[in-house]
Amino acid sequence: MNFFAACGTDFPGALALEIVKADCCTLFDAGGKEYIDLIGGISVANMGHRHPKVIAAIHAQLEAYMHIMVYGEFVEAPKVQYAQVLTSHLPASLNSVYFTNSGAEAVEAAMKLAKRVTNRTGIIAFKNSYHGSTQGALSIIGDEYWRNAYRPLLPDILHLDYNSFESLEYITTHTACVIAETVQAEAGIKPPSPEWIKALREKCSSTGTLLVLDEIQAGCGRTGKLGGLNILISYRIWYCWGKPWRAVCPLGALVADKQLMDAFTDKPVLGHITTFGGHPVSCAAGLAAMKALLEEEWMEQVKAKEALFHSLLVHPSIKSFETCKK
Ligand SMILES: Cc1ncc(COP(=O)(O)O)c(C=O)c1O
Repeated sequence: MNFFAACGTDFPGALALEIVKADCCTLFDAGGKEYIDLIGGISVANMGHRHPKVIAAIHAQLEAYMHIMVYGEFVEAPKVQYAQVLTSHLPASLNSVYFTNSGAEAVEAAMKLAKRVTNRTGIIAFKNSYHGSTQGALSIIGDEYWRNAYRPLLPDILHLDYNSFESLEYITTHTACVIAETVQAEAGIKPPSPEWIKALREKCSSTGTLLVLDEIQAGCGRTGKLGGLNILISYRIWYCWGKPWRAVCPLGALVADKQLMDAFTDKPVLGHITTFGGHPVSCAAGLAAMKALLEEEWMEQVKAKEALFHSLLVHPSIKSFETCKK
């Protein structure tokens, strides 16, 4: 199969292995060769490939219905149930979920809603961050290499040093929102200090700025906790979810206070539109995955697995390992 001729994207050095089956953390190619999958679809398959409860939920949903209509004309139970379970594990103010198809779309929704709710235009993000590849998300990612070819991008965006107390001075009453990964993922898995996250949260509160936490890669049990960091979450913090929450189906979400989310319902009506966001099959899969994550001992095993990687992954190119302290 000629991947490079048939598909729109490739990159130099792409392996183009034809994978015919994936099971737990093993991939099988067309010649029957097995590979240990250490990338998991870029932080997606956090409980391995084809978890039986996820597969069963997908089958059941396929038997019922697939795409119907997303804006409330018809109630789709998988979406409602997933939102209920998700928010039941979050602080009370994070009580409304807007499902998207991808992480970048959730980030776009967060930026739009922040402008709308605060009536401000400034957005602050961090150097070396990654938030997605659509134009808005691209504007805030913290690496000129990715941004440069697509200018002009969104105006009024500031990139600050991550985990720097001095940076916080730039957050002002002009800032609509600050968007931060709870653990910088693409930057090389860099957790901030708990003190810095706390100071960031306080500075946002004192300036009336919304704090948007991008948990798209760090969340979902990956650090041993449901969220990327066990930080104090309270009023005016939003979450963007994605990757593992999709349970290997396309799904993302913005979670926010319902009172703020309501800004999307009026002038214009449907302030953030998606045809397929919160697809019933993806939500059924995500819900089953979240339940499995909570019921089975995946998060308890994270520390031991981390230690195993630390002891076995030895290579001159690996300069340091950082650990989430909280
Ligand atoms: C931290 C973070 N935010 C946002 C995104 C964008 O998600 P998606 O690729 O689903 O648009 C990613 C994807 O890698 C990510 O790692």
